[in-house]
Amino acid sequence: MSRPSRAVRTEFVGTAAEAEAMLMDVLRRLESRVVVLGGDNAIVDLQVGEGTVHIGAGPVADDLDAKAGTYEVTAMRRSEVTTADWAGVVDVVRRLPFTETEREKLDRTMPLTSGLPTSIRGDPLAGLAALMTIHHMRDFDVMVRKAIDLGLDPADITVIDKEYRYEFRHRVDESLVQLGLTVERYSDIVAAIGRHLDRASRKGLRTIVLDDGGYVGPVLFDHYGDRLQGVVGLILGLIEQTVSGIWKLRPYETLPVPVFSVAESRLKKTIEAYGVTDSGFRNVQRLLRDEMFEGRGAVVIGLGRLGPELVKLLRERHLRVTAYDQDALPALEAEKCGVDVATSLVEALSSVKPIVIFGCSGAALGPAMTAEHFEALKRDCYLVSFTSRNDEFDVVGLASLAAHSESRGRVGTAYRLPSGVEVTLVADGYPANFHYAESMPNRSSDLILASMLVGACTLASDPRDFVPGHNVGATDRALEASGIIAAYQRLYQ
Ligand SMILES: NC(=O)c1ccc[n+]([C@@H]2O[C@H](COP(=O)([O-])OP(=O)(O)OC[C@H]3O[C@@H](n4cnc5c(N)ncnc54)[C@H](O)[C@@H]3O)[C@@H](O)[C@H]2O)c1
Repeated sequence: MSRPSRAVRTEFVGTAAEAEAMLMDVLRRLESRVVVLGGDNAIVDLQVGEGTVHIGAGPVADDLDAKAGTYEVTAMRRSEVTTADWAGVVDVVRRLPFTETEREKLDRTMPLTSGLPTSIRGDPLAGLAALMTIHHMRDFDVMVRKAIDLGLDPADITVIDKEYRYEFRHRVDESLVQLGLTVERYSDIVAAIGRHLDRASRKGLRTIVLDDGGYVGPVLFDHYGDRLQGVVGLILGLIEQTVSGIWKLRPYETLPVPVFSVAESRLKKTIEAYGVTDSGFRNVQRLLRDEMFEGRGAVVIGLGRLGPELVKLLRERHLRVTAYDQDALPALEAEKCGVDVATSLVEALSSVKPIVIFGCSGAALGPAMTAEHFEALKRDCYLVSFTSRNDEFDVVGLASLAAHSESRGRVGTAYRLPSGVEVTLVADGYPANFHYAESMPNRSSDLILASMLVGACTLASDPRDFVPGHNVGATDRALEASGIIAAYQRLYQ
């Protein structure tokens, strides 16, 4: 077990007054657990259990960052503080809500989404409840606040934290809590959705679902279907932003509610694959800062939407790329574009001897790499996933095959196979673009998150074109009619 840290710090951007207010906010949240021994508006001594903690807020040490208004809250532990008490302090210091200064800056990075409450008239979302399962990145804070401006009452919004290790996850969580939302955990999703439905039905509110990855629909239909059948009125509709979410709805022959499919829209196709693969590869380079990829072998598994874009990107970055898809058609398509395509993954792994293997298969029928693939590896290498959650590689199989495993900290876990080959599972198999990172820049996600809000407003105020089930054509028409595509072009020329 690792030893507890001695200090914890979190940076934020703001003014001197906001730094003071931040310290007060931290003390308020610690209130029930500490006694203030003394101090001023910059540094305070606290009694925590039997020990003491010093906590302060002030400019960061780097003079350039300090000049630009970067502050930090720092807490330092005396040895007498118990591990549990210290964990409570660490949690509060990590969870600094965004300052007004930061929120103004964030809004400016997403002018399309920020402008929706002005361009869409009235409060179309008033009188609705909402369930949201969107990545807890800073862009989500913007989206939620604009949804509130469009009429949602924070008390009627539940967000489910997917529990990925996003760079600002603690700060996003606390910011949402302080807006008055209910923040629940993916690990408790079934009960969390039940609690939301109870709250909404007590108030007689219908719920709009904004989902990213098919998290909410299947739980609603599998666990609360009895309530939904008679009372389809409980759910107004579902906005889904990613194709894997649409796949998760496939098993349901008849969907009782309309789906606004940003995932399958023409608009989404223009942005996502490039942005995701670019941010993922850049993050891998950041995590593996001393590694060199140029001139070395890479294998890409899965040639759907993400795979071909990743192949292109890796070739541009001078990697030698071999691709593999279990479906012959995308494989043929890639071959026609001059890509080396393998007909067997085992064979590709043993002959190419890749330094890195990227998984973009979606793992719909199970992990793309299992024991036989791990055993085919001939050199030390990295496994990097883009697929949702940690489904791409058989993590349990890898761990049980390994003779030894060792944490590599933020990078992930290294497994020493009986053959002597060391396999590093980057981000422990979770999507590389979200790992201590924020995936695409806000200016790229601006269009996607604005589309989701347009979807919610359309289903709330003008759903005539939408029927229960999938509505791909109607989604394209609504997004085009909303004017956001032209506005995005104007804003980002
Ligand atoms: N990390 C992110 O930000 C992000 C963004 C978008 C999509 N995704 C996820 O990435 C995954 C891939 O997305 P996509 O849109 O490219 O999916 P897709 O369905 O378009 O493509 C998947 C491809 O993988 C192939 N495949 C499936 N199983 C395979 C296997 N075992 N071996 C080899 N090939 C296999 C399929 O034939 C298909 O061609 C999905 O899980 C999706 O949810 C992640």
